[in-house]
Amino acid sequence: MKINIMLSYLRNCKFRHNIITRTYCTEILREQPKEFVTSTIGDINFIDFHSTWKNDEEEALRKQVLEHMRVIPDFISEAEENSLLAEVEPQLKRMRYEFDHWDNAIQGYRETERGSWSEANSSTLARVRAAAFPPGAALLPHVHVLDLAAAGHIRPHVDAVRFCGDTIAGLCLLSTAVMRLTHEERPHIAFDALLQRRCLYIMSGAARYSFKHAVLGNEDSTWCGRRVQRLRRVAVICREAPPAHAA
Ligand code: OGA
Ligand code: MN
Repeated sequence: MKINIMLSYLRNCKFRHNIITRTYCTEILREQPKEFVTSTIGDINFIDFHSTWKNDEEEALRKQVLEHMRVIPDFISEAEENSLLAEVEPQLKRMRYEFDHWDNAIQGYRETERGSWSEANSSTLARVRAAAFPPGAALLPHVHVLDLAAAGHIRPHVDAVRFCGDTIAGLCLLSTAVMRLTHEERPHIAFDALLQRRCLYIMSGAARYSFKHAVLGNEDSTWCGRRVQRLRRVAVICREAPPAHAA
């Protein structure tokens, strides 16, 4: 299958829910002592639960979300960021940003996949894999490089289970962005993840299967009520392979 067709299948979805635009800072979880944040739980400082998410019954889901949507700030250095960009830019620059597919989950993007990397970048990616995936996990052989123009955005979608397994790990280059996750069945259950430049996010389990994820466009990007400027952003994404029976 051609790469670009496969990638658009990956994001294939129906847009049933509108994006909720109001966000509030998390009060309860922000007050937890720092020890609450462990290596297997996401840094709560980068997760913002919407205020519409109140119900006690949904409290368990909050804990799950922190385990299943982890944001690790400054995962790579500036030098590592530059080195990854230097390797992908020549290829990206030969492509045009796609804006015209109205039914596409993504607007204003160009993308490619890469199977081999320079020694320096291979070791950065090895660090990503070690942090994100369980030992022995089978990964898709290619790394997905997604370049979102300043005017681009990604609409809510779930990565197709046919093409992608449990864990998705993305390195964020060039710009901070807000990723909004909205529960598939109960859209009032939503949260935002602040993906700062050079962070790594690791999405799995409940966050990957029960929530749609979207990358907000510049004009919609706010974090805890504050404007976030979304510039051109390049994501370098590693994915687990789908289980054999789903392939
Ligand atoms: C995707 C996607 C997120 C990102 O390509 O399916 O959701 O971080 N990308 O760019
Ligand atoms: Mn996706």
